[in-house]
Amino acid sequence: MDIKNIAGKVFPKEFCPKCEIKKLINKTRISQRAKGDYDNGAALTPPMGWSSWNLFASHINESLIKEIADAMDKSGLAECGYKYVNIDDCWESVNRDADGRLMCNPITFPSGIKSLAGYVNSLGLKLGIYSSNGTLTCQNYPASLGHEKTDAETFASWGIEYFKYDFCHNEKISTYAPMICELSIGIANKGDIVVKKASDAVLTGSARIINDATELHGAYIAGLCSHNGTAAFNISDIPADGKYILTLVARTGRRKKEFAVIRINGIDEYYLYSPSSNPWEEKRNDQLTVELKKGENTVEIFNPIGSAMDSAAFQYKNMGRLLKQASKKQAEITGEEEKPIVFSICEWGKNFPCKWGREAGNLWRTTPDIAANWASIVSIYEMNIPLWKYACPGAWNDPDMLEVGNGKLTYEENRAHFSLWCMLAAPLILGNDIRTFVKPDGTPDKDNKVYGILTNREMIAIDQDRLGMQCRRIKTNGVLDVLVKPLDKGEAAICFFNKGLTAKNVEFDIKDAANEGRVNLPSTGTYSIKDIWEKNEIIKTSRIYCTVQPHGVKVYRIKAD
Ligand code: GLA
Repeated sequence: MDIKNIAGKVFPKEFCPKCEIKKLINKTRISQRAKGDYDNGAALTPPMGWSSWNLFASHINESLIKEIADAMDKSGLAECGYKYVNIDDCWESVNRDADGRLMCNPITFPSGIKSLAGYVNSLGLKLGIYSSNGTLTCQNYPASLGHEKTDAETFASWGIEYFKYDFCHNEKISTYAPMICELSIGIANKGDIVVKKASDAVLTGSARIINDATELHGAYIAGLCSHNGTAAFNISDIPADGKYILTLVARTGRRKKEFAVIRINGIDEYYLYSPSSNPWEEKRNDQLTVELKKGENTVEIFNPIGSAMDSAAFQYKNMGRLLKQASKKQAEITGEEEKPIVFSICEWGKNFPCKWGREAGNLWRTTPDIAANWASIVSIYEMNIPLWKYACPGAWNDPDMLEVGNGKLTYEENRAHFSLWCMLAAPLILGNDIRTFVKPDGTPDKDNKVYGILTNREMIAIDQDRLGMQCRRIKTNGVLDVLVKPLDKGEAAICFFNKGLTAKNVEFDIKDAANEGRVNLPSTGTYSIKDIWEKNEIIKTSRIYCTVQPHGVKVYRIKAD
């Protein structure tokens, strides 16, 4: 493969095209995951829609959201696949209601979110909403940490179908575990029916008994912190299936918050968050209501949190689980078809969400916030390139919402930004004012250049390809990148991306794309190529010759002849 600089500039000495291509192309077939583990039946292709944040930030209200939904419908964006109308931060009231539920700001959203969802649904579209996995949202509105179940149920009851969960004001779960002196099972109004001492537990890992000579503590179990050990109790003689009060008597004195998972009979899990103790406390009674079955039961106690990543993963998985439960429960209440909630993890890539996100939700932000400028787009693109192996149907790397049409991006830059996000199999969540796409007579403004970019169906089809594979960069000289995305039916997309300030001429041997590793194109013979932006087609060729404009792309769909 040759990449020639149009100005005849010589590549730096250390750049050796042949070695580069050897390094970057993995000739062995790479097995990609078939499906995300979250498996809520949603986002089997990258979700498409619009969000209020990038352009409107805090300046949002009910009329704007309705106008955006109208525009999505009338402009034909909906027909192209854009379905989610997502309200980002600043929809909330500063206070929860008397039942502890989140409320929308009654001044700016006077009809309430449920009614707004009804309006959006009447246009065949879906409504999305936002909260944070912290004590407050990024704009300091009430958020969901500690209110996960209530909030998930509230959103489901409003008919929400997309939920973005931010990371502002997050509090890490403690890696410390209770130092257990005693465990008892009791019945309300009656008292304890089973009492177990520390020495009754079966201990694994670093869990061990400390025999404290002082009367106050007696023996207690240590070593349950940071996923290092488990204490298991066998509880027999439970009189009947039902709810019981489990009391853990723990030694205090550490003056740190503590956390434990209480797993009953290997299945049901209860989470115990204990406050840090006061200096004068010696023992603490933690209490939980648990379901036990008649006869024998096992109670395992451990703290699975060893790091900041464990904490974030645990909290997002917990919310993901509760969202699934909530949409299911809502369907049971209404007798209507279940509305699965696309779960958008917005943790900014701080704790490697690509490693755990597919178990927790449908998509995960990989980077800090995007901005409507070229440097931001390129840096986010670069950070997403190495993450190709984590994307699969139902589970997507999220390089953040689109800035196409915002700021001072040029036509080439807007087109490159959109094409790159499609090559990355990224969610296509628009961030511009799509009301400008509809003419006063209610018809789409097909002359609007940004509209033309966002409605290029062939580009969208590359993003939405059912294989759900993110592109790989098979070649780069630092300025010109060659991206290859495997497509269904043995096809592939190739994108030449010019990050530089001068146009670049390209001559490319298509078999280098066929050798990408996951692509199912034959590496001999000739191919048909279609230019996705210029629309011209060439058959029976083995090479691509083109010029890529500065900050521009050329994208081709390739199939074997
Ligand atoms: C964070 C997120 C953004 C947006 C704002 C809202 O910065 O990353 O996408 O949701 O919060 O406050």
